[in-house]
Amino acid sequence: MNKSTKRNIRLLMLLSLTGLIFSCQPKQLADRQNFDKDWKFMLGDDSLAFQAGYEDGSWRKLNVPHDWSIEGEFSADAPSTTEGGALPTGIGWYRKSFRLEKPTSNKNFYIDFDGVFCNSEVWINGHFLGKRPYGYISFRYDLTPYLNYGESENILAVRVDNSAQPASRWYTGSGIYRHVWLVEKNPVHVAHWGTFVTTPEVSETLAKVHLDIQLENTDTQEQEVLVKSSVLDSQGTVLAKAESTLTATNGISSLTQNFELNNPALWSPENPNLYQVKSEVFKEGKLVDEYNTPLGLRWFEFTPDKGFFLNGKPYKLHGVNQHHDLGALGAAVNTRAMERQLEILKEMGVNGIRMAHNPPAPELLHLCDKMGFLVINESFDEWKKTKAKKGYHLYWDEWHKRDLEDMILRDRNHPSIFVWSIGNEIPEQFDTTGIRITRELADIVKSLDTTRPITAALTETDPEKNNLYKSGALDLLSFNYKHEEYLKFPDRYPGECMLASENMSALSSRGHYDFPSDSVRIWPPAYNAPFDGNPDLTASSFDNCIAYWGATHEDTWAVVKNNDFIPGMFIWSGFDYIGEPLPYPYPARSSYLGIIDLCGFPKDVYYMYQSEWTDKTVLHLFPHWNWTEGQTVDLWAYYNNADEVELFVNGVSQGRKSKEKDQFHVMWRVPFHAGSVRAVSYKNGEKVAEQEIHTAGQAAKIELIADRNNIKADGSDLSFITVKVTDKDGNMVPDAANLINFNVDGEGFVAGVDNGYQASTDPFKASYRKAFNGMCLVIVQSTEHAGNIKITASSDGLESNSLTLTSN
Ligand code: GAL
Repeated sequence: MNKSTKRNIRLLMLLSLTGLIFSCQPKQLADRQNFDKDWKFMLGDDSLAFQAGYEDGSWRKLNVPHDWSIEGEFSADAPSTTEGGALPTGIGWYRKSFRLEKPTSNKNFYIDFDGVFCNSEVWINGHFLGKRPYGYISFRYDLTPYLNYGESENILAVRVDNSAQPASRWYTGSGIYRHVWLVEKNPVHVAHWGTFVTTPEVSETLAKVHLDIQLENTDTQEQEVLVKSSVLDSQGTVLAKAESTLTATNGISSLTQNFELNNPALWSPENPNLYQVKSEVFKEGKLVDEYNTPLGLRWFEFTPDKGFFLNGKPYKLHGVNQHHDLGALGAAVNTRAMERQLEILKEMGVNGIRMAHNPPAPELLHLCDKMGFLVINESFDEWKKTKAKKGYHLYWDEWHKRDLEDMILRDRNHPSIFVWSIGNEIPEQFDTTGIRITRELADIVKSLDTTRPITAALTETDPEKNNLYKSGALDLLSFNYKHEEYLKFPDRYPGECMLASENMSALSSRGHYDFPSDSVRIWPPAYNAPFDGNPDLTASSFDNCIAYWGATHEDTWAVVKNNDFIPGMFIWSGFDYIGEPLPYPYPARSSYLGIIDLCGFPKDVYYMYQSEWTDKTVLHLFPHWNWTEGQTVDLWAYYNNADEVELFVNGVSQGRKSKEKDQFHVMWRVPFHAGSVRAVSYKNGEKVAEQEIHTAGQAAKIELIADRNNIKADGSDLSFITVKVTDKDGNMVPDAANLINFNVDGEGFVAGVDNGYQASTDPFKASYRKAFNGMCLVIVQSTEHAGNIKITASSDGLESNSLTLTSN
């Protein structure tokens, strides 16, 4: 779309969607086999380890996804630096041996890697297959010419080189950290990422669906094929069909099919209705390939003056930015861990996620389709100019085209994806090379998908100075921070559509509070400026601590909420993540910027969003009630569905308060006297909700709360167990730091432990953890055997506790 057209017409994007929809894992077609098990691993390098006959008997046996960095020790001297998480990186090798039956007819075998961090090189039986520097990209190699069949082993060898550091501004993980698949195909088959479904027309009464299929024929002989496709609803009912015949010559042949659906169930975050298109390829009446393309039906529109519309209705984007690590599990992909993160975000009212700043694991996109999140999929944090010293710029010239194409091809069928971002805070904004590169990248995206707007997350807000904007190639202008300038945008960028891609960068440590609560700390106050942080490297949870480029949650949300032309915002960040521990130096090693800590425990401001972004009745009183006698304490309450809140201290009313305009909390300032505080919310004088907090006594007991008591015996399912240190009456002790030991009996093991404290240097892979502000987390993983899993938590001076899960 050129600029002048864009000024005159609103940006209307009719969406189409693919991915695999009915489960969060890609559907297991018979010809796609998970290849995660029984790898061997060696940390270190050996130039001979690619050879088929190499002796790997002493290597460690493991399953992938695997992240060796998360297993390591934190160190101030880690080459990744604290920005990268202060964990070890380096070089590692993986090998896997496997046997294949000789197929009765011609077959092709491919190996698919969803992601290897980074600089992977792959060999099969000593033959070099290729190299992929970018750790976030998915890739396939053809194994067919090099395979042994029958009794002879095949050896797949993968060298992973994450030694050039610092490679990133956040924690990356190292290794084969996403899934691996072995794919077996007949000579004629739907090519890799070989379908593209679009919806040229969608309304509540009719959806027109268009499917492009790329058929690959690896035979030199032409093949007559019949391709039958059908659109299925989530129950598997066939709603529309199409058939095409084709002479497939050697190489790629294209065909298109069209469908119409009456009264379609539309997709939205609130109602993520999914369909799928099933394509079957027949040769001489025999089914030779089957391919499923996910489909979600929806349309959306960004407008310069009224913001964003989804399926014809105004829609505010309540978004978060997310990095890819899974806390104590590191970067190693686990679908349940990703699903839990999304569940916690959904509960808060989040409807959008920006994948910062790289393509995510495929399973995360399947989950977003299924659970309902609008996704900005972002390709790069760096172009040709340096951000991290050994970052992606090193590979830019050779790889950016391929990597961007592969991201679009892999992901363009996901209903959840509504925007492509070609970069985050790219230094080329300030340089005329930015004009050329933006146009080039936009052309690459448009050559593969014209149904979604292209954006880049910008920091330069002056249209005269921003070369990415000047390129005229961005459909949508996304800005990071500077919410105080938003009101100028309609004049500065007449006719343009905007989005707030990154906001806040407010700092907090769960359960830590600095008074007075109504003065904002800016840490650091300016670039490299000294500041008086807390000696224990904490930050306050009163929404009163921010980075100098950031803002408080309430200030930013007020602007976004009150202005229709702003389509919504994306908080930096949903969860804390490993790395980027600003404003503190080591031993701080993970971020303070999340609404939710690294364990997945909400910080207080989570409830502010819940009160604004959901209909759930919220009354959240904080902080705790354990202070020094007589100390002046601020108490805040977030609430909704009520007109006012009354606070009682030791039974005595402190008066009723209502939120002021553009404030999203109420506050009382009172002297502390041990006992209890109680908040009561009222609507029309009637009580709506109530919350009481007691002064906790001495730590006496351990409380264990599993997010799921019943898990799957599949070797990867998880139960996240919240551990609270309480007094004898069950009140959480808000500053408890007791060391808790975990023992797991039966069909499970500890996959990780954490307490959300950003400056802890204790390992994530351990069977013990100190509580931080009264809480910690133990993550228990199932084995492949059904049975009970008994978790016992013990600590010196505390009554032990245990919990039994079932796994089946
Ligand atoms: C932004 C950047 C993010 C993160 C954040 C921290 O400028 O895009 O990746 O670094 O700052 O505040």
